[in-house]
Amino acid sequence: MRRKLAAGNWKMNGLGSSLAELETLSKAENTRQTDILICPPATLLSRAAAMSADSQVMVGGQDCHAAITGAHTGDISAEMLRDAGAEMIILGHSERRADHNEFDEHIRAKARAVFETGLTAVICMGESLAEREADNTLDIIGGQLAGSIPDNATGENLVVAYEPIWAIGTGKVPTLAQIGEVHDFIRARLERRFGAGVGRSVRLLYGGSVKPDNAADIFSVSNVDGALVGGASLKAADFQVIIDALDAT
Ligand code: PGA
Repeated sequence: MRRKLAAGNWKMNGLGSSLAELETLSKAENTRQTDILICPPATLLSRAAAMSADSQVMVGGQDCHAAITGAHTGDISAEMLRDAGAEMIILGHSERRADHNEFDEHIRAKARAVFETGLTAVICMGESLAEREADNTLDIIGGQLAGSIPDNATGENLVVAYEPIWAIGTGKVPTLAQIGEVHDFIRARLERRFGAGVGRSVRLLYGGSVKPDNAADIFSVSNVDGALVGGASLKAADFQVIIDALDAT
């Protein structure tokens, strides 16, 4: 049985005052069968970790460097994020791929660093609108899976997030059939590469315009084990509805 995961990515949003939202989430009567992750900006991570320490909410990073230490001005390593309280680190988000020219090989190197530090990598992948319209979605996802995941992945150190680029922050969501097709494909590829045991234990998240009003439908799709949520994770009231929808499936 895979544990469900509701993950929030605050992106470059959040000041100290935003921690009130995390406090609300941390104090909620949370469940049960669903893991909850909030990835605030790195500037808030240690305060967020302290605030959520006695709750079911985990905190995580949004990216890390592939090296553990060294002369890399402005960068943050997986070990530093762990030291600040992170349990998981998002890697390969399409915004990082686009803004920082990250390719699969960089993401794979970063994932190795995350595994080495004993944390879990949430590796993101997804097609552009042009790639979907050209009917290339599964080829793109297959390439990203092969290129960005290290060989020593397990159900504990890896979560995969399918995030169609055209659905992120746009309010556009694929049909449930489209989500299901990609998630089933990812599951089959993971089983083929890592064997059924590991392949079936890796959690698969859907991300891209998950909101309180569409979450339950998305969570009904097979091989959707949770969500990676951007905008709707910034307000505890919205994110709590998504957590509850996941918990109810
Ligand atoms: P969104 O972002 O929920 O605001 O569409 C999702 C993501 O980028 O992970």
